[in-house]
Amino acid sequence: MKQIINVEIRTRTVDPIGCKTDVLAVGHFSDAKGLDRIARQLDAKLDGAIERVMKLGDFKGKSGTSAIVYGNDKIGAGRILLVGLGEKKKATLDAVRQAAAQAANRSVGLKAERLSLALHGAFGGRFGLDAMGRAMAEGVCFGSYRYDEFVTKDENGRRDSLKVELVDSDAARTRSLNKGMAAGIIIGRAQSYARTMANRPANVISPAVLADAAKKLARGSKGLSCTVFDERQMAAKGMGGVLAVGSGSQNKPRFIVLKYTPKGKVKSKAAVALVGKAITFDSGGISIKPANKMEEMKLDKTGGITVLGTMKAAAELALPVNILGIIPSAENLPSGSSYRPGDIITTFSGKTVEVQNTDAEGRMILCDALAYAVKQNCDVIIDIATLTGACRVALGKYMAGLMGNDDKLLKQLQRAADQSGEKVWPMPSGDEYAEEMKSKIADLKNIGSPFGGACTAAAFLRQFVDEKKWAHLDIAGVELYERANEFVAEGSTGFGVRLLANYLMNLAK
Ligand code: BES
Ligand code: MN
Ligand code: ZN
Repeated sequence: MKQIINVEIRTRTVDPIGCKTDVLAVGHFSDAKGLDRIARQLDAKLDGAIERVMKLGDFKGKSGTSAIVYGNDKIGAGRILLVGLGEKKKATLDAVRQAAAQAANRSVGLKAERLSLALHGAFGGRFGLDAMGRAMAEGVCFGSYRYDEFVTKDENGRRDSLKVELVDSDAARTRSLNKGMAAGIIIGRAQSYARTMANRPANVISPAVLADAAKKLARGSKGLSCTVFDERQMAAKGMGGVLAVGSGSQNKPRFIVLKYTPKGKVKSKAAVALVGKAITFDSGGISIKPANKMEEMKLDKTGGITVLGTMKAAAELALPVNILGIIPSAENLPSGSSYRPGDIITTFSGKTVEVQNTDAEGRMILCDALAYAVKQNCDVIIDIATLTGACRVALGKYMAGLMGNDDKLLKQLQRAADQSGEKVWPMPSGDEYAEEMKSKIADLKNIGSPFGGACTAAAFLRQFVDEKKWAHLDIAGVELYERANEFVAEGSTGFGVRLLANYLMNLAK
């Protein structure tokens, strides 16, 4: 199998003008008056070639656009890549991240060996150099990523690796970039790991294989340990929700628990539980889905994998926070042993649930995992799941739904979303919605009315967290790029790794 592209990122103190490289990326704001210092110096050596591109109107600095100007023997770079940064007054750190992603994406497309980023210059003193170093490293991992491990033909393929350097002529400035870059590489790589795991199809990743991956991750990471319950252990514990959903498949369900214990002093007293839905394939079960686009349901394990990726990042960053990663995993298939509409399931909490639709399986496995987090006495519980088509209808592919029962926690997640560029939007999940989830013959039923499906799903989950602080991220819609764009390849987005890593890093401060 082909290895996912290996990105090496470092910093180098070098004058960008003389910097020997295949691609030198320089940023430009759409509302900038003229070129910034580096672009101006390059332009002088190139006899005004950059100005000519701009005068022709081929490049105006709009976000998502870029242009190549070829080098000559007066500069070190083979190509100058002008990267559009959008409007300066609107620029956030995500503009830095996106510019780096775009430069890396194009460099992979060009089969360049070396990419040098001089993007930070255009931002002036707007953000700290360490923050920009981190954003650039995250962006480079994000944009260079391709999922092609099963593509056997090599002709016209990509290179095995991309060497990236963040360049600046001043050594002190390079050192500052380097400081942030280290965390950026850890988070960026964790996200790429998550994307690969999510992109792998259901004939490759079963619940048992996912559990083995979690164990392997724990073995290789300081402070991480992993416990896995198989179906017999789950039966002994009474995890009826996960067992019901998994009952239709030959691939038996697993309940994966990752524990991260920091080495030294703990900064935040609260133990945080991260709970992720990992349905390795969601056919809908007996309430089967239509055939169209059903293959996308291999991504229904994304929430669980986001938790896996976040635990990896947390351990490598050595965050001083206690974290429990809980990943219930099952395959939802129709068969003679499947759970059925009408079944009444006793869940881990003791609460009973009437199944009215086997396609509402995410909440059936999550309710066991949330109750488990409560039982482990976690102070804060955050779940993340590709839970409802309704959330995708409501928010589209740009933002995840954010629900919860604690304003402070919701604010913290909103802040982490702003920092990470992985956006969230608040949605309700209170009593009105909970009312719809009452059953006449059991404590709860697993679907509500045809309306407000994302909110009723969250209201269902809310009833399994007792008095704990809880937040829920519905990532249906943001887990997938159906098509490649200027910044990134198609397939899994790895949504949530950066968001949750930021949340945890903020707790650690
Ligand atoms: N995994 C799906 C939700 C989903 C839909 C994720 C589209 C990504 C893209 C979930 O298990 C599901 O099937 N939900 C049902 C719930 C319904 C039966 C109440 C849905 O949204 O239709
Ligand atoms: Mn479903
Ligand atoms: Zn599902």
